[in-house]
Amino acid sequence: MTRIIDGKAISAQIKEELKVRVSELKKEGKDICLAVIQVGSDPASSVYVNNKKRACEFIGIRSLSYELEENTSEEKLLEMIHELNDRADVNGILVQLPLPEHINEDKILKAIHPKKDVDGFHPQNVGALCIGELGFVSCTPAGIIQLLKRSGVEIEGKECVIIGRSNIVGKPMAMLLLRENGTVTVTHSRTRNLKEVCRRADILVVAIGKPKMITKEYVKEGAVVIDVGIHRNENNKLCGDVDYDDVAPICSAITPVPGGVGPMTIAMLMHNCVESIKLQ
Ligand code: GUN
Repeated sequence: MTRIIDGKAISAQIKEELKVRVSELKKEGKDICLAVIQVGSDPASSVYVNNKKRACEFIGIRSLSYELEENTSEEKLLEMIHELNDRADVNGILVQLPLPEHINEDKILKAIHPKKDVDGFHPQNVGALCIGELGFVSCTPAGIIQLLKRSGVEIEGKECVIIGRSNIVGKPMAMLLLRENGTVTVTHSRTRNLKEVCRRADILVVAIGKPKMITKEYVKEGAVVIDVGIHRNENNKLCGDVDYDDVAPICSAITPVPGGVGPMTIAMLMHNCVESIKLQ
């Protein structure tokens, strides 16, 4: 029987735990505040930003929302980040991506103080993850580790194959699986014999950004499959990078889309906001 890993339920459980923790912190006089900046009005970004604000409200985290015009200059955005870096009452700063083309994303992400970088994108936090030091971890891969652990999937000693080498998912995912003592392979668009490499996986993490690319030819019988992709198909229905109907019958556990990895990203963002208290 294939187990469906319920990201919605697991993220709800994490948010409940965080809510309790935040109310304890409030009793100690510690309030948590997240600043969320959106530049422009990309509809998908607006949905994500609203979901983040709603999660803050549920947990008891104060959120400051900055909605800037599409034509906001890089200098103006940098100035805003510097002000938020200096504010003692702001614990986390999140700049929603993607940014308009005239703004250098790298420069913006590096401007956020590493101790307020709740996305875990700053090079200092990426470096800390690589050498096992304390720091913020990118939310999607951190959420995947929670999905695996809370579903009772053992990582230690397992063959873990990741498809995709992005800075946000693939690379930090490799570091986290390694930290859990998995044997990790990172594959990408130039990997030879991709199907064969993927078929070695006990745990297959798919983050390629191509709808339904992964069919059962890529999956070993009994593998655990984690689908990071999210796309809208021609009928306006959501689907992942994995062809779910084809793959689900042969694996031991799989994440659905929607309701798998997606909800975990926000839960881990909230986790990072709460952790920020410890780092600051
Ligand atoms: N855009 C899509 N995903 C993310 C994310 O995790 N963080 C930020 N800042 N922007 C995003």
